[in-house]
Order: sequence, then structure tokens, then C-alpha cells
Amino acid sequence: MSRIVLGVTGGVAAYKAALLLRLFTEGGHDVQVVPTESALEFVGAATWEALSGHPVQTGVFDNVEHVPHVMLGKTADLVVVAPATANTLARAAHGLADDLLTNTLLTARCPVVMAPAMHTEMWEHPATVANVATLRERGVLVIEPDSGRLTGSDTGPGRLPEPEAIHRIALQALAGRPRDLAGRHVAISAGGTREFLDPVRFLGNRSSGRQGIALAEAALARGASVTLVAANVSIDMPAGAEVVRVTTTAELRDAMLKAAPTADAVVMAAAPADFRPAAYAESKIKKAEDGGAPGIELVQNPDILVELVRSRAGRVPLVAGFAAETGDANGSVLDHGRAKLGRKGCDVLVVNDVGSERVFGQPDNEVTILTADGAEVPVARADKGEIAHAIWDVLVQRME
Ligand code: CTP
Repeated sequence: MSRIVLGVTGGVAAYKAALLLRLFTEGGHDVQVVPTESALEFVGAATWEALSGHPVQTGVFDNVEHVPHVMLGKTADLVVVAPATANTLARAAHGLADDLLTNTLLTARCPVVMAPAMHTEMWEHPATVANVATLRERGVLVIEPDSGRLTGSDTGPGRLPEPEAIHRIALQALAGRPRDLAGRHVAISAGGTREFLDPVRFLGNRSSGRQGIALAEAALARGASVTLVAANVSIDMPAGAEVVRVTTTAELRDAMLKAAPTADAVVMAAAPADFRPAAYAESKIKKAEDGGAPGIELVQNPDILVELVRSRAGRVPLVAGFAAETGDANGSVLDHGRAKLGRKGCDVLVVNDVGSERVFGQPDNEVTILTADGAEVPVARADKGEIAHAIWDVLVQRME
């Protein structure tokens, strides 16, 4: 059981923090909620006290015999502030200590996660931008807000990510991941592309996107800014990633080539379709009266990984790919992996044995990480999140 301090500040999204609190307590964690005075305008103390099982206070002058302004921060394993208003980001960035939450932030020596929520204008204001940069420099994990409907009829970046997504990032922070990707930008593809025959039918594949999502979550937890190019992924997107949704291999290619020049590492975890129908029928292909079936002529899609390797002319990001292999008469899974690493020319290739039913859509995986300089790192069967961190361990080493 860990001790988590949940700071809640004054925004409409404070109601979502009640759900986040539930996720923490259901996970067996002991949560002390520290609302600000204005947070209580949105959700009252009774809700926080009932859900956490602890009394709440906003100032430093109640229960002074317990010295809460020092004790809470010093004994916490994790501090999460959700939602974090522009005002609280500013107070935290400048080291103010005018209520219990800001005192706790100054005394905490554990990981700190802040999930901002505010109107787009406030989020994009140079003052907020500078405050967020300051906090990140000091090691605070500031989650990028989602884009979408805000409190009024306006939309844009500034929405608090969903509680489940904040929860997943917070657990990563609690696990004490290194912040070795702070200041880095990484681009990751996930999922499987679809190639349409007609308006209703497509050729697709079984990739769920889980491993790519896990890589994005792991990179976010290690402090990176993440562009996640997601092809037909139906599971939740990680909080704080810039998500680009694509359908076809051509769209995936464009999105990855666009993201790569500003990235420090690109990881092709998606399964792009290797082939697409040579022709697309504008209207639904009808069944033939005579019981016959249409033949489908296919053409090859571009190999995005190879293009990413070739496009490294100016700035040189690290390029990693995955190899979905089955052993056959010509060689083992690893033989095929080594040959593929050579063929593709990437820096790192994560080899996956897809011969069994134990990869697609499963929560765990087992891989061998091959590097262009000859290293071979086996990673025993583990949760896809752990596999993701093992991959970043190898990539970070090579970035340095
Ligand atoms: N890949 C890609 N573009 C494609 C096909 C694959 O960028 N059109 C990438 C995948 O994202 C993965 C790597 O290439 O990182 C290897 O994918 P895999 O399916 O194992 O290999 P293929 O290139 O399709 O080779 P083959 O099917 O012939 O083994």
C-alpha cells in the first residue's frame, strides 16, 4: 500500500478527481486528498472525506500539532494534482506556499504528477507555458491536457484527461521509473492498418495496439513528449500523448514521416498492411449471380520503417522496429529477426514470436531486443508495460 496525496484544485474537472480517487483506493492505496479552497467550490469536503476515509483541510492552521504542511509531503510516495489550474501551476512553479497543497508540493521528495485543466487560452498563455516548462525541468511529470470539449461550448486543448488515463500514468510514476526521457520527443506507431476494397470491406490484421500504447505510456512516464500514431486502436489512449489517428498504411506513413524530423526516437510498433487492393470500388462490390467471387489484385505498400531509416539525412533519430516472426524450415524466429534487422537497417529490432496465440491482444508478451551493434537482450514473459520499459532501457542507452 502506498501513500498518495491527491491535490485537487479549483476547476469544473474536480469531479473527475473523485473517480481518480476511487481508482487509487480500489487499488489498495491510502489517499489523502488535499483540496484548495476553490476546489471546494466545485466538490465539497464531504465527498473527499467519504471516498478517502480521511478528513480534509485546505490550510496549514488546522491540526497544527501534526504539522501537516510538512508531514504530508515528506511521507507521501506520490503526489498527484488533478485537475491542476493555471493558478496552482504558477504557485508551484514559483515555490509559493500559501495553502496546504503548495506546502505539500514544496516538502514532497517523491514523484509528483500534475494534470492541468483549463481553457485553451490559459493553457497556451506564455506564463503558463513557462510555468509548465519550469515544473518539468524540476522533474514534475506534467501531463499534456486532452483536446476536446471544455466547460462551455468551446473546444481545444485544456481538458483533463480521463481518470483511468491519469491513473495509469500515476501508477507508472509510483513505480519510480527513471525520468531519462525528459526533454525528449518520441514518435510511436501502434495498431494495425486497414486497406479498403470498397466502402464496407477492408483487409486488416490482428494487431490490437497494446504494445505500442504501452511504449507510449512508458515514454510519458519517463518524461518524454510523445506523438502516438494510432491505426484503428480501440483501447484507451494514454493521457498526455499527442494522438494522430490513422486508418491506412499511406496515412500511417505520412504521419510518421511528419513526426520523425523532430523526434529523438521513432518506434514502429504498428502492423502496417504490407499489401493493399490495386483498385478501390467506389460502391459496395455485389455478389455475382453465378456464385462466383471476385479476385482481388494486391499491390505492395511502402515499407515505412525502411523509409524512416532512409529519411535520417539531417537530424538522426534512433529508429526501432518490431519483427513479428514465426520459425520455419529456413530458420528460427531469431534467425529471421537478425536477417530482418539487416534488411531494414534500423538501430533496434524487437523480435516477437507470433507463432503462438500468446501475442495478439494479450496483456503480456515475450521478446528479444536485437541491436545493430550486435547486442541481443532477451526479455522474459511480462506485462506489455514492463516489456515497453525494457525496450526504452535499450533505446535510452543508445540515445546517450
Ligand atoms: N513495417 C513498416 N511498413 C510496412 C510493413 C512493416 O514500417 N509496410 C514495419 C513494422 O512496423 C515493423 C517492421 O516493419 O516495425 C517489421 O514488420 P513485419 O511485419 O515483421 O515485417 P515485414 O516488413 O512485413 O516483413 P515480412 O512480412 O516479409 O517478414
